[in-house]
Amino acid sequence: MTTATATTLGRDLLEAARAPEFAGWLRGLRRRVHQHPELAFQEHRTSALVRAELDALGVAYAWPVARTGVVATIAGAAGPGPVFALRADMDALPIQETVEWEFKSLEDGKMHACGHDAHVAMLLGAAKLLQSRRDHFKGKVKLVFQPAEEGNAGGYHVLREGVLDDVQAIFGVHVDTDSPAGAVRSRPGPHLAGSARFTATITGKGGHAAAPHLAADPVVAAAAAVLSLQQLVARETDPLQGTVVSVTFIKGGEAFNVIPESVTLGGTLRSMTTDGLFYLMKRINEVIEGQAAVSRCAAAVDFMEEKLRPYPATVNDEGMYAHAKAVAESMLGEANVRLCPQAMAAEDFGFYAERIPAAFFGVGAATDGGGTGETNRLHSPHLVIDEEALPVGAAFHAAVAIEYLNSKSATPPLACLSPDASRVVNELA
Ligand code: NI
Repeated sequence: MTTATATTLGRDLLEAARAPEFAGWLRGLRRRVHQHPELAFQEHRTSALVRAELDALGVAYAWPVARTGVVATIAGAAGPGPVFALRADMDALPIQETVEWEFKSLEDGKMHACGHDAHVAMLLGAAKLLQSRRDHFKGKVKLVFQPAEEGNAGGYHVLREGVLDDVQAIFGVHVDTDSPAGAVRSRPGPHLAGSARFTATITGKGGHAAAPHLAADPVVAAAAAVLSLQQLVARETDPLQGTVVSVTFIKGGEAFNVIPESVTLGGTLRSMTTDGLFYLMKRINEVIEGQAAVSRCAAAVDFMEEKLRPYPATVNDEGMYAHAKAVAESMLGEANVRLCPQAMAAEDFGFYAERIPAAFFGVGAATDGGGTGETNRLHSPHLVIDEEALPVGAAFHAAVAIEYLNSKSATPPLACLSPDASRVVNELA
């Protein structure tokens, strides 16, 4: 999909984003977001910052989308064409920052420890690049500033509002603390795991511990259930397919001589495929209920699907992966575009990838050349990211979008034209 002209375009965009004034603006944005981290669906201040910057750029947007989200639209001036989406997440984590620096979090117990502050800055950078190059592309780019990635399925809620129904392909990035700034990584096909959580309450009949035959012991039932759950991974799953079931808590009983009435347990399950995740959910239910019955107890298993919606696996579309990889190679050089292994971490970008051809890439942001130190661990209170990643992320977003639109609009068939995005903006206003 990449042409000789496009090669120049990627490099031009990167050069523009790395110019001192532009890069300084990106750093300033990231630091302002970093100082005021906000948890899922509370990203009011971040959302206001995004809207103020879009206003300053003269970019139209829909808001609120999924409570605090913002979806901006930039139409190319070169004519009609497809609609391409770029996505950044905005939420922070309930972590107390321990890094002592000038722009340390000012919010007690909250920190951008997953780099979503950088993602917001990168996407605003892409907005600026795209807005100044509207003459260079056909079609439209939708820029999704999404709430609640960390466990609350913000991506699912954005999709449910219909603002992306006209989108033909989508791209997203995450800071990658295993590679240096100037490098990017991803892989075709299954990339990140699908993930869900469960709790179970096993109820028996409490009684005196000296007379177990007069009780129905939920502790023994829970112990049997915990062991049996591991067989779902060891005996029921293809050994080559990444799968995890971890029971992370068991609660029940208080006294040495009393068999409790009930025991609760819970944990997480993960799979590299969404089908694998659904299989685990079905079997976890059966195994816990079955083991409870063996011990003359009853069990109720809850996957909390309404509140903590399971995340599908993030699977990169082969064509979109190849497109973004080619764009990155022309922009950064082949040596700086690498294949990464699959990871059991989950991402709500999986909701988009399930619906729309998608590619998700890591943008190198390691400090001190990477390594396993605390400063290079996401979700660590010690996380430090290399801000040199910001212009790379901004240019990568913009180049992937422009080259996609131009490659798809060589002969845009009228039937493929998207509905006017302003309609969506008006409906949501
Ligand atoms: Ni993250």
